[in-house]
Amino acid sequence: MSKLAPSILSADFSRLAEQIALIEQGGADYVHMDVMDGAFVPNITFGGPVVKSVAGRTSLPFDVHLMIERPELRIPDFVTPQTEFIVVHQEACVHLHRVIQQIKDLGVKAGVALNPATPVSTLEYVLPYLDLVLVMSVNPGFGGQKFIPFAMDKIALLADIRKKKGLDYVIEIDGGVNLSNAAAIKNAGCDILVAGSAVFGAADVPERVREFQAILK
Ligand code: DX5
Ligand code: ZN
Repeated sequence: MSKLAPSILSADFSRLAEQIALIEQGGADYVHMDVMDGAFVPNITFGGPVVKSVAGRTSLPFDVHLMIERPELRIPDFVTPQTEFIVVHQEACVHLHRVIQQIKDLGVKAGVALNPATPVSTLEYVLPYLDLVLVMSVNPGFGGQKFIPFAMDKIALLADIRKKKGLDYVIEIDGGVNLSNAAAIKNAGCDILVAGSAVFGAADVPERVREFQAILK
């Protein structure tokens, strides 16, 4: 069984709590929060104050995806009682092992994201310390982009390494996920599927979450 983390990037920010209530109603597993700084990626979304204001308005755990430079300066801003994962980008961290430790010392599970062009091998030495690996299946910065097929190879490789080395990180995919490719992604060994436009673009959001969950169960 795989899990669904709808991304609020495609939600109506003017009524964020209501939008999150819709995915909770449909049975989503996490709220995926895309934090963008206009530097690491060409777009700006929101920061710690928004994440903190949503905490307590839902019982869903938070999966915080930091698409920001120097994340080590900001990580504490995203720690709330509901923050389960904080995910930083491999490409944004000069001292990746130290940043992973920083997240864990705050009592939060640590994840690292890989841009499409970044090989899995860059994580070789830190995989034993990770709770989650996020495979980007689009170049980060925007919702609604097309799924890059070679992300599937990375999922399979990460699942294979996990088995061979007896590790226990969860594998997440983000970008271009929809009802048509969800089954194949799950079958490749992915544990958490992020979906933004495919969830919040639906006329009936709770029903769309249920449609995903029927595929992922
Ligand atoms: C992209 C973000 C994604 C985005 C996915 O930079 O990290 O989480 O919301 O959006 P869709 O599902 O529309 O590709
Ligand atoms: Zn994301």
